[in-house]
Amino acid sequence: MASMFDRLDTNHDGVISRAEFNAMTAAPAPYAGSTFASSTQIGAPMAMTSAVTTAPPITMAAAPAVTMTAPAAPMMTAAPAPMAASYTAAPVAASYTAPSAMTTMAAPAPNAFLDNEDSFGEAERIFRSQYDITEVLGEGTYGKVRKARDRQTGEFRALKQMKLNNRDEGVPSTAIREVAILKELNHEHIVKLYDVFCKPGELVLVFELCDTDLKKHMRALGGRLQPRQVRDFTQQLLRGMEFCHANRIIHRDLKPQNLLIDSNSLQLKIADFGLARAFSLPIPQYTHEVVTVWYRPLEILLGSKIYSIPVDMWGVGCILAEMATGSPLFAGDSEIDTAFKIFMKLGTPTEAQWPGLSELPDFKPTFPKWAPKGWANIRNTQQQIGATGVDLLDQLMRYNPATRISARGALQHAYFA
Ligand SMILES: Nc1ncnc2c1ncn2[C@@H]1O[C@H](COP(=O)(O)OP(=O)(O)OP(=O)(O)O)[C@@H](O)[C@H]1O
Ligand SMILES: [Mg+2]
Repeated sequence: MASMFDRLDTNHDGVISRAEFNAMTAAPAPYAGSTFASSTQIGAPMAMTSAVTTAPPITMAAAPAVTMTAPAAPMMTAAPAPMAASYTAAPVAASYTAPSAMTTMAAPAPNAFLDNEDSFGEAERIFRSQYDITEVLGEGTYGKVRKARDRQTGEFRALKQMKLNNRDEGVPSTAIREVAILKELNHEHIVKLYDVFCKPGELVLVFELCDTDLKKHMRALGGRLQPRQVRDFTQQLLRGMEFCHANRIIHRDLKPQNLLIDSNSLQLKIADFGLARAFSLPIPQYTHEVVTVWYRPLEILLGSKIYSIPVDMWGVGCILAEMATGSPLFAGDSEIDTAFKIFMKLGTPTEAQWPGLSELPDFKPTFPKWAPKGWANIRNTQQQIGATGVDLLDQLMRYNPATRISARGALQHAYFA
């Protein structure tokens, strides 16, 4: 059977048509083994909770490593593996648990109801009857995130409803990535995906509910967090990122809005894996347009086609500084404006600092030359995070990605001692 991830690799920013989905998912393959295509059956009418199973439920993914058509399909190979040049593979964090009980699904008779509108309707009715949907929590690229209460258990959930513009065009690969990645990642600092519902034109992801995100949380506190809280959130974020990176997942879109916060426990959870991507060696050329512009590292802003997990570490640095001072560090209105805002604070980079800089596609020798300001002169960063925090920030925000600190290295930094 063709793997969906073969398609993703060749067409990773496109969409999979419904017909393609059905072709990919229609093979009478057994559900054991959990290829994403056969285990999630996007394109086929279904709701994946055990509550709606009509046939014996099959527990998905008993182990994190799943059978895929490797090596062309790196998405689901969850075993720790060597990383980019300067990064050594980190073993999976101790708190990792195999995503065995995440969800169970109906095992429909192969091909029985693909493209059958009645079955879609019935699956949808069953799915919708499980939840009382209330207020809107947030809005994103594809649709709204709403609060919902599970009628059976009384538990609250966040439903991310993604409207797919053209009913016949299929599911965007960003949504597929989010499902595929979250299905494999089970960690206290990564938002938990409980359930997936899909029908033509719509995909609903059911997540654990958090009360707020970091951006809203900071705004509610008038912009600033206490130094102890800045350190604690940074540590939680790094733990989640260490786990992602150990599992060969680059998030690529770290920003305060994508970090969910439980305001009682002050637990932080990384969300929105829509742009995330599993990486394999050799490092493939990822699409250029990825990280939201303010949190983008220079290697992306200057057009590098080859980048890897250090992009996330730059994002962690931006978020640490933003938590400390209450405002985004490099709030540019374009890529070049953001690059210049970086230069003005951290100094215009030099070839000595970052060998290969002048070969980057968008580098210009005519860039204005700014000297580094020093963190002591960048708002109140130094007062908020102290000398050790500033040292960590320096290492997170190294221009040369090969010398940027890893999540594992950062967790061992004196700032957290
Ligand atoms: N599980 C959740 N609990 C509480 N609020 C959530 C949850 N998931 C999302 N939200 C809220 O909804 C907002 C949008 O969600 P999310 O970032 O997942 O999607 P998105 O923004 O559509 O994706 P993108 O950033 O690619 O546009 C978040 O910033 C957050 O405020
Ligand atoms: Mg988002």
